[in-house]
Amino acid sequence: MSDKAPVCLTTPRGRFELQRGETLLAALERTGHTVEYQCRSGYCGACRLRLSDPQMAEQLHYLIEPLAHRAADELLPCCCQVRGEIVLRLAEPVTKTDSPS
Ligand code: FES
Repeated sequence: MSDKAPVCLTTPRGRFELQRGETLLAALERTGHTVEYQCRSGYCGACRLRLSDPQMAEQLHYLIEPLAHRAADELLPCCCQVRGEIVLRLAEPVTKTDSPS
C-alpha cells in the first residue's frame, strides 16, 4: 500500500477518511459512531462488528492477535487498523421518531 493511498471507512452514516496509526475503534469514535467496548485489547469481543464483505478482512491489520473469536466477516475494531477501504454493517442510528409510541 502506498503511504498516500486513502484509508477509508464507509458506514451507514457516510464515508470517512482514517488517520495514520489510529485504531478502527478510535476512528469510529472520532467520527461520531457509538461502539460498545470493554477491554480495548482484543480479549472480550464486546466491540465486535461486521464487514459488508468478508474479503475486506484483508484490509485489516491487527496490532495484537486478539483472543476473542471472530467469524470471517467480523472484526474487533479496538485492536486493528485499516490499510485500505472497508465497509461496515452498522445498525442505522435510531431516532425518537423511530420508536413505537
Ligand atoms: S473491546 Fe474487548 S475485544 Fe474489543
